[in-house]
Amino acid sequence: MSIQYSHVADRDTSAPVRPTWRDAPVAMSITGLAKAFGDRTVLEDIDLQIREGEFVALLGKSGSGKTTLLRIVAGLDDTTRGTALVNPARTVVFQEPRLIPNKRVASNVTLGLKGNQRERALAALHEVRLDHVVRSWPGVLSGGEQQRVAVARALVREPKVMLLDEPFAALDALTRLEMQNLLTALRREHGFATLLVTHDVEEAAYLADRVIVLKDGRIAYDEDITHLGERRDRAQPAFIAVREALLRELGVDPSVGQAS
Ligand SMILES: Nc1ncnc2c1ncn2[C@@H]1O[C@H](COP(=O)(O)OP(=O)(O)O)[C@@H](O)[C@H]1O
Ligand SMILES: [Mg+2]
Repeated sequence: MSIQYSHVADRDTSAPVRPTWRDAPVAMSITGLAKAFGDRTVLEDIDLQIREGEFVALLGKSGSGKTTLLRIVAGLDDTTRGTALVNPARTVVFQEPRLIPNKRVASNVTLGLKGNQRERALAALHEVRLDHVVRSWPGVLSGGEQQRVAVARALVREPKVMLLDEPFAALDALTRLEMQNLLTALRREHGFATLLVTHDVEEAAYLADRVIVLKDGRIAYDEDITHLGERRDRAQPAFIAVREALLRELGVDPSVGQAS
């Protein structure tokens, strides 16, 4: 038998690959958006377009308006001015899993859907590697497992837009890394547009195609980081440079608190 050589090895891996989402339909388009609560303006002059398949991380200090923006995109809140046109196939994952304690895991996943969606629930739970807890009550699951149920509940809705508000912030460091890799895999598989609110610059640099920083209610920074490649290496100098640029943008001195 002759040896079959893979063509993959012949590919010029140094050539930049144009991400497929660059030509994909726009999944959300925000124009001239402003939001005020009473006389307090929280968001101002926000313009933002995200394509299907694109992954945008949204950073900003506490109180900078990240959740407010995400809630508007999710359709949970109105704008004061401007427009937010978003593909209606959108879904949100919050920091807390928000599961119903007296419904089993599979029923939590299909909550609010019409008809018998058990097969779809099982498929979504399989995707987040939770086949073993389909019939369990949410209360017996670990924090990471509960959050994976929340992700399955989002997936089963076949979203074009996945919105996540600090979804991994309450998890331990190791579980957080697993969840980041899971999200990367799901996004590749399903090609939804992703808007991830995070306060973790490393998470942003690890996951996103593009990073946005909100400051005083405006977009203060908007950078494409696809030059970091598809598979990110946290030890790579280019990765560290992005991380440090983001810390500076957030007003944090990157050298402080770092092991030397
Ligand atoms: N429903 C609300 N009513 C009044 N003020 C609000 C409301 N929601 C958020 N805010 C205020 O808007 C600002 C931005 O909040 P938020 O979007 O939650 O910030 P972040 O998610 O970046 O921490 C905060 O000062 C917050 O107190
Ligand atoms: Mg918030």
